[in-house]
Amino acid sequence: MAYTLEYFQKSVDYICRFVPYTPEVAIVLGSCLGPFADTIEDPIVIDYKDIPNFLVSTVESHAGKLIFGTVAGKKVVCMSGRFHSYEGYDFEQLVIPVRVFKLLGAKVTILTNAAGAVNTAYRPGDIMVVSDHIKLTGASPLRGPNVEEFGPRFFDVTRMYTPALRRLALECAEDTGLKAHEGVYMFFTGPQFETPAEIRAARILGADAVGMSTVTEALTAAHCGMPLLCLSVMTNMAAGVLDEPLCNGEVEATAKMIEDKFSGYVAKIVGRIGEVAL
Ligand code: HPA
Repeated sequence: MAYTLEYFQKSVDYICRFVPYTPEVAIVLGSCLGPFADTIEDPIVIDYKDIPNFLVSTVESHAGKLIFGTVAGKKVVCMSGRFHSYEGYDFEQLVIPVRVFKLLGAKVTILTNAAGAVNTAYRPGDIMVVSDHIKLTGASPLRGPNVEEFGPRFFDVTRMYTPALRRLALECAEDTGLKAHEGVYMFFTGPQFETPAEIRAARILGADAVGMSTVTEALTAAHCGMPLLCLSVMTNMAAGVLDEPLCNGEVEATAKMIEDKFSGYVAKIVGRIGEVAL
């Protein structure tokens, strides 16, 4: 498949038939964090399956809808349900959502995810504002012919998690009842949770949390120079931290427990994004 500019433009042309404005902020909702979507005012909902050249969600806790509307006075586009490599998608396909956001005119991307806490000072329900990531799989979503219209072949990622947005996110966590840390997210392909030995290795390497998403989208945003904020919800202590098996029920239960606070938190950040010089 040739991922040319025209390929992504086809999705955008379809979407623009339904949406009469440019969204300022693009938000990707992670596993079990979908309820934020219900807080979007004047929603315009488009099913992924109807969008030409888009992908579809195969995970039960991911709704598979693109929702446009207003949050805290700002026009947003929100992905309720994201795409992962463990669903069978190639890394190269995982550039699609963020490139569509870019062509729609979004100025900022906010990625959210559920993650396992590697840092033993973190607790389930805490937030981690991602400062950097580790991805040792070797694969890159930017592999293959470079689409120059989005960005250069070789690109810098030293400040890809925009420092000013990270500061804003930490500040916004005050008075929300959420405890926010700043830390490093390490990507594992899944769908199995990690082994305890992998988690010990991740900790030695400098990871504070682990998860199965986000880095492909983050690298796509970095490639096209889009300011980026990434928020991880610690839904569980990572494998082997506690003397008990991991189960997805725990991930879902923690996400459910904080979904209202988390939705309010994300809305607060969206409302104050104009304060940040980008
Ligand atoms: N590992 C990987 N992905 C996750 C985890 C985890 O422990 N929790 C939620 N998503």
